[in-house]
This record gives sequence, C-alpha cells and structure tokens, in this order.
Amino acid sequence: MKPLILVNFKTYPEATGKKAVELARKIAAVNSRKYHVAIAPPLLELEHVCKAVKILVFAQHVDSSGSGAHTGEITAKDVKKLGAGGTLLNHSERKLSFLILKNTIKEGQRNKLVIVACAGTLAEVQKIAALHPEYIAYEPPELIGGKVSVTAEPEILLKAVRLVKTISPTTKMLCGAGIHSREDLLTALQLGMKGVLLSHAVVKAHNPKRFLEKMMR
Ligand code: G3P
Repeated sequence: MKPLILVNFKTYPEATGKKAVELARKIAAVNSRKYHVAIAPPLLELEHVCKAVKILVFAQHVDSSGSGAHTGEITAKDVKKLGAGGTLLNHSERKLSFLILKNTIKEGQRNKLVIVACAGTLAEVQKIAALHPEYIAYEPPELIGGKVSVTAEPEILLKAVRLVKTISPTTKMLCGAGIHSREDLLTALQLGMKGVLLSHAVVKAHNPKRFLEKMMR
C-alpha cells in the first residue's frame, strides 16, 4: 500500500471558498506512482471539492451523532453522501473528549469512512490505538504551523510506531506538524510512518502542485 500524503486545508484563506476547489484541482493534478495523495478541505466546501476531484477527500471533522434532533452537527452519514471517503478526528485544533472520540470513530467506521485520529502525545497515541482507527496521526501541537518538523524527534516517532503495532497492528501511523520537505517525508517513512499529514507548507506554497511533486519525486 502506497504511503498517504494528506493535505489539510484547515481554514486558511488560500484554501477556503472558491479557492478550496482550485487548490483541490491543483493537488489532484499531482501525478505520483509512489504516494497516495488525499485532501481535507473546509467542511463548507466538501461537496464542491468532492464533485471536482477524483482523489480521496477527507472531512476535517465529523460528530458522533446520527441523523435526528442534533443542531449544528456534521454527521458521518452526510459527509459520506457528499463524497468524502474519510475524516480527520481529534485534531489538536478540534479536540474531542475520549468518550466522544470513541463514539465518533465507531460512527465513522459504521459509515465506511477511513478514520485518521490525531494524537498530540505518546500517551494519547496509546489510548487512541485501543479504539482501532485506520490511522493515527501523531502531531505535537507545539510544532504545528512552524518550521521545525515533527521528524526532528525521531525517538518519539519510533516509540509511537512500536506502541501502535503492539496495541492495534492494523492501525497505520502518520505524523504531522512542520513537515515541509522531501527529507522530512523520507525520514518519516524510514521511521515506520505510513505517510504524513501536512498543511501550511502546501497551502501557502507559491505553487502547491510543484511543491508536492518536488516532495514526492
Ligand atoms: O493537520 C495538519 C497539521 O496540523 C500540520 O500543520 O501546518 O504544521 O503542516 P502544518
């Protein structure tokens, strides 16, 4: 299975409104035989983006509730209907309590969404592994959006991979925060990651397509 390169658009101005579809098209045009490229556009643009591109699209978040009397909730079922194939959960910018995360993973999996559950610490990686998501993305919050890559702390990444292998052998590990180069990506893979989660380096790149091609060549 090819490593996953998942680009989170967050709500950066370069990636919201009409620009979400434009950015999604640029990323979808990246040709790679080695990597699987996926995107997580803003929720409000999910439908447009899903219609515009054929690559795997993730929701940035879903809630645990199903259809019914729930105001302002985003259901896994509806996100799936719009064309998303997966969802991020528990991003450090969208934290969930453990119980809610547990229920949301179940609800997402019931609706056949690929779950990328984020964890900010090794302790969190360990707890979340017991919920058996398809992916756990280790992202130390203090490095998110910065210039220092998560791969600068290889021992932690190795520990995270080992932990997950023991608790949930089917769960794959990603890492993210500050990833901005081919070297960061290759280091992550060497340490046992099955891909990376990244954002500002792509979203704010002068030419996002070229940036990714250079990273994934
Ligand atoms: O979801 C990806 C993320 O939190 C990492 O962000 O900007 O450090 O690549 P960034």
